[in-house]
Amino acid sequence: MKTIIEPFRIKSVEPIRFTTRPERERLLKAADWNTFRLLSDDVLIDLLTDSGTSAMSSAQWGAIMNGDESYAGSPSFARFEAAVRELADFTHIIPTHQGRAAEAILFSILGGAGRKIPSNTHFDTTRGNIENTGAEAIDLLVAEGLDPNDLSDFKGNIDLDRLEAFMNENAADVPCVMITVTNNAGGGQPVSLANIRAAADIAHAHDTLLIIDACRFAENAYFIKQREEGQADRSITDIVRDMFAVADGMTMSAKKDALVNIGGWLALNDDDLAVQARNRLIMTEGFPTYGGLAGRDLEAIAQGLKEVVDEDYLRYRVRTNEYIVERLDKMGVPVLKPAGGHAVFIDARTWLSHIPPLEYPGHSLACALYEVGGIRTSEIGTVMFGRQPDGSEKPAAMDLVRLAMPRRVYTQSHADYIVEVFEELLGEIGQRPGFKIVEEPPAMRHFTAKFAPLS
Ligand code: F0G
Repeated sequence: MKTIIEPFRIKSVEPIRFTTRPERERLLKAADWNTFRLLSDDVLIDLLTDSGTSAMSSAQWGAIMNGDESYAGSPSFARFEAAVRELADFTHIIPTHQGRAAEAILFSILGGAGRKIPSNTHFDTTRGNIENTGAEAIDLLVAEGLDPNDLSDFKGNIDLDRLEAFMNENAADVPCVMITVTNNAGGGQPVSLANIRAAADIAHAHDTLLIIDACRFAENAYFIKQREEGQADRSITDIVRDMFAVADGMTMSAKKDALVNIGGWLALNDDDLAVQARNRLIMTEGFPTYGGLAGRDLEAIAQGLKEVVDEDYLRYRVRTNEYIVERLDKMGVPVLKPAGGHAVFIDARTWLSHIPPLEYPGHSLACALYEVGGIRTSEIGTVMFGRQPDGSEKPAAMDLVRLAMPRRVYTQSHADYIVEVFEELLGEIGQRPGFKIVEEPPAMRHFTAKFAPLS
């Protein structure tokens, strides 16, 4: 059969509230034209993030009732730890309430003034947690990763030549090399097994660690299976194990590829580092057998990890994004290609070329998608990255809009609807206004800033 169907039946549903365009125009104005300030009840299709928005399975809801809420030594922790080890066999598995808590703990140990941490691309919370300690976060993405039209298979790879040169110069100041799979900020693009192994070799040759930011590890493994030579006949689980086998640790947001609504962990092989991490954990998150989580959350993660490596699920997930990208591309909407694992990215700077970057074309498109179709998305561009530490403002490298797909939540007809909203937008895109910011906080302004349309 040609059609790839959703590999699940639906047992429990959440109704969507329909709104009209005039209503949405009013609601967006009342939210100061910031989609983060909208109430989710007023959103028809919510593509703001794929984080914590998964639909859990009946097996996960069942597992929740097995949660043991003991302060110490809970069997739920044992089940969680075993499920993580099945895929990522690290010596120490340290649960946290979400990914950024694992990052904060890791860099409270490895960071500090003068330290440098290279990566393919740091996610913004990772960068924040590194810089917060006085250390420097450096992105060394391959050149093709910055070209929205380059069709290379592994646009998330770290540039090995630049990494080698960087290490030759700075190794003494580098406590770890990081690899983010998939590269979220760069469009959900994968990293090859060969690239992870080569980065590990470089790190180890310079006596430093390789840490994987593993949020979307299963999607990354699926791309490896599809695209990397010699991997086609291997199971997703085996590929995942290989990805982690060469690493010395991982940070994880279980809100992505563990198919749960909250959770994360830090894993390490080094005993001394793990002692320091657990001490920090006890101060900031909780006892080492629950971290920042309830026993039931650990149970849901353990079950989610078994489900996320299912190839039928991954095929459906990646195909949904490819389908939307193919149809938008045919329509002439500039999209980032190939389709990412967790999201579709629109090149708003190109599509809304009548709006200069400092009038926020990505933000304008995010507003248009909500007004026209009730779709909530997020800008990844000049609003997010434009404000400089010295207070000045400059255009980001790209002005993208991310349509992030919650896992197992939307169906084929939702995908068709999304495409139709773009069709509708084609006629008015040239008239969409630029925006100015009328109020913004000192940092992370995209979450709370207030906007007003120009003209
Ligand atoms: N690393 C990556 C690559 C991420 O995408 C995220 C979160 C984190 C770390 C932090 O994890 O949210 O559990 O603390 N990304 C979300 C997003 C917020 O919308 O892309 P967290």
